[in-house]
Amino acid sequence: SLFKRYFKEILGIYRGVQKHQDDLQDVIGRAVQIGVKKFMITGGSLQDSKDALRLAQTNDMFFSTVGCHPTRCDEFEKDSPDQYLAGLLHLAENNKGKVVAIGECGLDFDRLQFCPKDTQLKYFEKQFELSEQTKLPMFLHCRNSHTEFLDIMRRNRDRCVGGVVSVQYFSLKTEANLEVLKSIPSEKLMIETDAPWCGVKSTHAGSKYIKTAFPTKKKWEAGCCLKDRNEPCHIVQILEIMSAVREEDPLELANTLYNNTIKIFFS
Ligand SMILES: *[C@@H]1O[C@H](CO)[C@@H](O)[C@H](O)[C@H]1NC(C)=O
Repeated sequence: SLFKRYFKEILGIYRGVQKHQDDLQDVIGRAVQIGVKKFMITGGSLQDSKDALRLAQTNDMFFSTVGCHPTRCDEFEKDSPDQYLAGLLHLAENNKGKVVAIGECGLDFDRLQFCPKDTQLKYFEKQFELSEQTKLPMFLHCRNSHTEFLDIMRRNRDRCVGGVVSVQYFSLKTEANLEVLKSIPSEKLMIETDAPWCGVKSTHAGSKYIKTAFPTKKKWEAGCCLKDRNEPCHIVQILEIMSAVREEDPLELANTLYNNTIKIFFS
């Protein structure tokens, strides 16, 4: 699961094998040092959302989301879809303050091997009920599914108080991606890392704008980042790419993005 893999990698467990010591505190420390104030741990299924909440409860800077990822939507039909939805609703409603969004939900037609299109469409739309009932914004995912995604959003726009489809490193791969970035008004923009995935790759078009480097090792070493494990501290690199492409002052842009995030998720 999304959360479990993240948590396990932080704990040093890969495919069930303990590869290095638990460095969660270092990971958090590195992020705080570059200015991260809050962390959002996304849920990808009912069990994932419970685990994410449990981790969120261990630190005042941590928050979580409740929802079912498009690649996991077949879980709705394992038992009773209504019961599954009720489980998500219960979790979100009873943990206001810690649970700050419904998601990660949406559509992902790049990975239909995990969950067929029809199932994704049906349960993405169903999760608007969670946003409607809890008045929480939606944390959205859209990959190779823009037409259907927009259809569903338009049909259900009034049911959610707000939502975000954010820009992470994956969205900074090509020059064409960077052009799109320039066209988004800054008051509509947010950034995320998607840690532990979608880390910085030197082959991506955006990487030439990165200024801040972190000591990184191929093999785990205390106090260092680990190659191929994306971390919250890398968000500063996304900011650097974004401000360079948009020709905006990084600090000013950071303040705008921070304000946007607070407005949607924390006020
Ligand atoms: C962000 O919000 C703070 C507090 O409301 C405000 O003082 C500041 O001007 C805002 N900054 C930007 C760049 O929007």
